[in-house]
Amino acid sequence: MKPIREQIKNKPWLGWAMFLITIVVVFLLGLLASSVIERRAEAVFAYTPKVKHAPTEPRNEVWGQNFPKQYQSYMNTKDTVFASKYNGAAMIDMLEVDPRLVVLWAGYGFAKDYNQGRGHMYAVEDIQVSLRTGGPTEEKRSPMPNTCWTCKSPDVPRLMKEMGPAEFYKGKWDEKGHEVMNNIGCADCHDSETMNLKITRPALVEAFERMGKDIDEASHQEMRSLVCAQCHVEYYFNKKSNPGSPYLTFPWDKGMSVEAMEEYYDEIGFADWTHKLSKAPMLKAQHPGYEVYLTGVHAKRGVSCADCHMPYKSEGGQKFTDHHIQSPLNNVANSCQVCHREETASLIEDVYERQDRIIENRDKLEELIVRMHVEAKFAWDNGATEEQMKDILTDIRHAQWRWDYAAASHGGSFHSPVETSRVISTGIVVAQEGRLKLSRLLASMGHNKEIPYPDITTKAKAQAFIGLPVEKLQEEKNEFLKTIVPKWEAEKDKREATYETSLN
Ligand code: HEC
Ligand code: HEC
Ligand code: HEC
Ligand code: HEC
Repeated sequence: MKPIREQIKNKPWLGWAMFLITIVVVFLLGLLASSVIERRAEAVFAYTPKVKHAPTEPRNEVWGQNFPKQYQSYMNTKDTVFASKYNGAAMIDMLEVDPRLVVLWAGYGFAKDYNQGRGHMYAVEDIQVSLRTGGPTEEKRSPMPNTCWTCKSPDVPRLMKEMGPAEFYKGKWDEKGHEVMNNIGCADCHDSETMNLKITRPALVEAFERMGKDIDEASHQEMRSLVCAQCHVEYYFNKKSNPGSPYLTFPWDKGMSVEAMEEYYDEIGFADWTHKLSKAPMLKAQHPGYEVYLTGVHAKRGVSCADCHMPYKSEGGQKFTDHHIQSPLNNVANSCQVCHREETASLIEDVYERQDRIIENRDKLEELIVRMHVEAKFAWDNGATEEQMKDILTDIRHAQWRWDYAAASHGGSFHSPVETSRVISTGIVVAQEGRLKLSRLLASMGHNKEIPYPDITTKAKAQAFIGLPVEKLQEEKNEFLKTIVPKWEAEKDKREATYETSLN
């Protein structure tokens, strides 16, 4: 055999052939590598299911037989021990922590009862025990529509498949209570065949369509936030589109900023309620967590909700997604230190520092809005006219909407501190302008003294100030929990016995 160099000299095409072969091999290797990476990103993984069940199976424990690690970690959302400076997993009575809220929400359900959110495993129980949903007994129906269930349970996609969303939203809250008994779970976020992430709530898909976007084209990384955006968003119940069926709708048509949604609501003349003291047509922000997150630096750098709230975990050599969705401050090592090298204490300090500073201004805005409601009531009581009050009421509506957008976007002070501060600042500006108008009006009516700030130092005092019969509400609720809920539970067992599941 002659050396290669000589062979090439004799056959010049051979050199070219080898060159081409090398290029092809490198190209194929590249393809292989990129497909390996994509595969990993898609989390396509083979498994043999132990249990076969319907795609709409609502019981987490049935899915859990196929995926015990994900299931067990998800069940940890029952844990209520962890508390950070402002958040955590415990049930905290926010009206007790901050009685100003009672006055801000006078005339609306939230003034009766408002607790800080806890783990997903409490979603059904917490809506049942809340005073906001009332005590639906035979004589006295609950004030809330069925639409309230939409974010609480994998029974929702099951029922929507059976009857369609519009029919699901119909009726009062207690009518479908016996059907919605499983806490948020697997079927809310996963396709049962592939275990890929899946959007199960029509409101998100429809909001994308109206913005001219197709949610099926979302990237894998975007899906790791969009599954959360099914519930952790701003929404309202549209009572006009499908009469008799308050249709869950996201107000994103003009954009997701505080101003864009305010304009949307103003244009359709929507109000959640009329304020009991000021008579302003109010908006209740729900929890625009996703919208505020999108404006922050983590979203801009492609970090998803799941990266921080559902980090990877290793157990017995197996890497899986930790389904214990909670405050990341209870798990800084897996949540933050995958990307940041700073010490745990320093990362936690970063979070607290942002929260402290934002809450300082948020409290000031709350006090201004309490004053506006009280001063507006004084103006009405002293004979102010609709015409004189119109602009003032609009300022109250806008100032409180901005406050609520910032306050209810849970985690917003960390997810996007600059935007959250901006929203609060604009609220302070609107509130100050409204108060100027109020004091001019009051002066023109012959009142130039300060209207005293009410004694609302405790929840009980604040509820007495707005005239809320809390004890009676609690009695009705207790009656409901004693008589109706056990009936719902009995029906659940009977219904579940009919579900088709089989062991492989
Ligand atoms: C089907 C609706 C729904 C989906 C989907 C959903 N959530 Fe929730 N989430 C809720 C509700 C409702 C609560 C409050 C439960 C309670 O207080 O009883 C909650 C509570 C939370 C909490 C507070 C837990 C605590 O310990 O304080 C966090 C954090 C959270 N969700 C993050 C997420 C993330 C991240 C995602 C996406 C991976 C997500 N959620 C998807 C409805 C949902
Ligand atoms: C709030 C949404 C949500 C809920 C509820 C949920 N998951 Fe997941 N799950 C995720 C996300 C996000 C991932 C990461 C997927 C990815 O990156 O491809 C995931 C990943 C998985 C995976 C892929 C393997 C892995 O560990 O990454 C399995 C299997 C899984 N989940 C099972 C379950 C089971 C079983 C339940 C119910 C007990 C459940 N999930 C509930 C959001 C959810
Ligand atoms: C997947 C990677 C990733 C994870 C997980 C992550 N971060 Fe970051 N973080 C980033 C990137 C990227 C930036 C932007 C830095 C830049 O581009 O210079 C950033 C910026 C920050 C900043 C400065 C931005 C600001 O708002 O002032 C803080 C503070 C921070 N991260 C804290 C945390 C904490 C606390 C956690 C855990 C709860 C966390 N990060 C989790 C990637 C991550
Ligand atoms: C960079 C990390 C990071 C990302 C990304 C992130 N979060 Fe958070 N989130 C946090 C931190 C840190 C807190 C504050 C926790 C505390 O104060 O205990 C928080 C708080 C929350 C809370 C309140 C928790 C409680 O205990 O009451 C909710 C709900 C929440 N986030 C949901 C989301 C959703 C939904 C997304 C995506 C749209 C998201 N988060 C994206 C880090 C993150």
